[in-house]
Amino acid sequence: MKSFRVDLRSDTVTKPSAAMRKAMAEAEVGDDWFGDDPTVNRLQERAAETTGKEAALYVPSGTMANQIALRLHFSGPGHLVVAEPLSHVASTEVMSAAVLSGIAYRTVHGDRRGRISADQVRAALEPDEPYDVEIVDLVCLENTSGHAGGTVMDVEDFRAVRKVAEEAGVAVHLDGARIFNASAASGVDVAEYAAEVDTLMFCVSKGLGAPIGSLVCGSAEQMREGRRIKILFGGAWRQAGVVAAAGLVALEEGPQRLHEDHERAGRLGEAVAEIVPGSLDPSDVETNMVFADTEASMAMTPLEVANRLEDHGVGASVVSGKVRMVTHVDIADEDVETAIAAWRAVAAG
Ligand SMILES: Cc1ncc(COP(=O)(O)O)c(C=O)c1O
Repeated sequence: MKSFRVDLRSDTVTKPSAAMRKAMAEAEVGDDWFGDDPTVNRLQERAAETTGKEAALYVPSGTMANQIALRLHFSGPGHLVVAEPLSHVASTEVMSAAVLSGIAYRTVHGDRRGRISADQVRAALEPDEPYDVEIVDLVCLENTSGHAGGTVMDVEDFRAVRKVAEEAGVAVHLDGARIFNASAASGVDVAEYAAEVDTLMFCVSKGLGAPIGSLVCGSAEQMREGRRIKILFGGAWRQAGVVAAAGLVALEEGPQRLHEDHERAGRLGEAVAEIVPGSLDPSDVETNMVFADTEASMAMTPLEVANRLEDHGVGASVVSGKVRMVTHVDIADEDVETAIAAWRAVAAG
C-alpha cells in the first residue's frame, strides 16, 4: 500500500472528518431500494435544493451518476453523444458508456482549457444530410474540466451552448463532479450553472470531502426513471444512509472552504513554475489542480517525476501527459511547502 506524507494524487483521497464520522455513526437508515432510507432522502432533497432541480438521486460513484444520466437521455445504440475528448465521459468512461448503453461519441476538440464553444456544438449538431444516419441525443459538458487542468467554464458559455442545443432539440448534461470548485472560483452559484442544463451530476466524494457518493439531479420524472436505471446498474445500496450522512456534512461544510484549496494550488503552481521554468503558467491554475509539463522543461517523463516526488513522500499522478497535483481538505499550508521542497530536490537531480 502506498503511503505519502503529502498526498496530492487527487481530491478523492480525503479521509472523513470527525463530524462526518460522528454523523455516520449516528445515521438513521432504511433500505434505499425501497426509497425509505431517511438520510439518503435528506441528502437527495438537499442536493435538489442546492442545484435548483426538482429531484436528485444518490449513487455510489461519479461514473455511475454520469452513466445513469447518459442512459436517461440516450434513445438507443447507434446514436451519438457530443463531448470534448478529454472529458471524463468520453475518456475514462468511454468503455462504461459503450458497455452499459451502446453509446458512441462525436468528440469536439475544445480549446486548451477543455472548453467547447456554442459554434462548435452547432456544427456538431448539424444534420448529416443527405445520408441521414447520424443522430445526436445529448451534449455533455464538464465543469471544472478535470483532465484539462481543473478549468472553469463560464456560465455565459453554458447559456450559449444550451441555446444551440435547444434549437436542435438536443438535451444537455453537465458532469459537475467539481461544480462546487467552479462555483467557488467564478462566484457563480451552482444553481445558475444547473439552470442551463437538463441534468447534472456532482460528487460529494471529491473536493467536498465525503468518503463516497455522487448525486444526479434533474426533473422529478427524470429521477424516477433514473432510479430505475440505478437499480438496473446494481446501485440499489440498501442502508446507504451510513455514507449519505457524511455526504450531508460535506454538502453543508465543503463549499465554504474550497477557496482555501484553490489558494494552496495557486501557491504550489507559482512555486513549481519558478523551480521548473516552462513547466506551467501559474495563471492556468484556476481551482484545485496543478498540471506541470515536465517532458520539455525537465526532459523527464511525468511518470519519472511522479516517482521521484514519491521518493520524497509526495503523491502526484499522471494525467493528460502531465504531472497532476490536486489540493484538498487534508492538505494544509505546510504540506504545500513540503511538496515545493520535493520539487526543488527533484529538479536539482
Ligand atoms: C470530471 C469527473 N467526472 C466523473 C468522475 C467519476 O467519478 P468516480 O471516480 O466517483 O466514479 C471523475 C473522477 O475523477 C471526474 O474527475
